[in-house]
Amino acid sequence: MSQSNVVSQWLPCPVVFVSTALGEKRDIMTATAMFISEKEPLLAISVAKGHLTAHLIDQAGGFILILASESQKELVWQLGSIKGGEEDKFKLFSINTLPSKPGKPLIPADSASWLECQVVSHQEINSYNLVIARVVNQEDLNNPPLIWQKQNLFALKPL
Ligand SMILES: Cc1cc2nc3c(=O)[nH]c(=O)nc-3n(C[C@H](O)[C@H](O)[C@H](O)COP(=O)(O)O)c2cc1C
Repeated sequence: MSQSNVVSQWLPCPVVFVSTALGEKRDIMTATAMFISEKEPLLAISVAKGHLTAHLIDQAGGFILILASESQKELVWQLGSIKGGEEDKFKLFSINTLPSKPGKPLIPADSASWLECQVVSHQEINSYNLVIARVVNQEDLNNPPLIWQKQNLFALKPL
């Protein structure tokens, strides 16, 4: 099966950052997400087990999911290519963040929106953790979001 025939990879999905914190330790990585239920504010993310993000979610029991905006294309690639165990990505990429409370995950400025999430369930599937979380707080920052499909980034357009 050639790469272009792998239809399971065609599912368009939002481009998000998963931001985590535990004590002095913090991290942020690029990911994708999907909602589980519209009535109840539940969503799912999948995080590779080796990532610092997976460890911090496990320890902290929550994370902030940030919808990346059109102006954050470069940040999407940066935060999706460097491992947090090696570098503090906020310092490395000089990321401007919204004002935050001590010990809380940081939110890059100019994002599309953010959702504070508490883990309700977690399942290991091969080398991934499937994390189901409840949204307990959120804010729309009124910037247009990004979409991921076939290894490329797209903007939304109305039909
Ligand atoms: C567009 C895009 C989407 C990604 N989605 C995921 C994902 O859903 N789950 C995952 O584990 N890694 C995903 N990655 C890869 C991680 O962002 C990458 O491995 C990152 O360096 C892990 O960071 P950490 O080690 O600081 O946790 C994605 C990367 C990109 C560029």
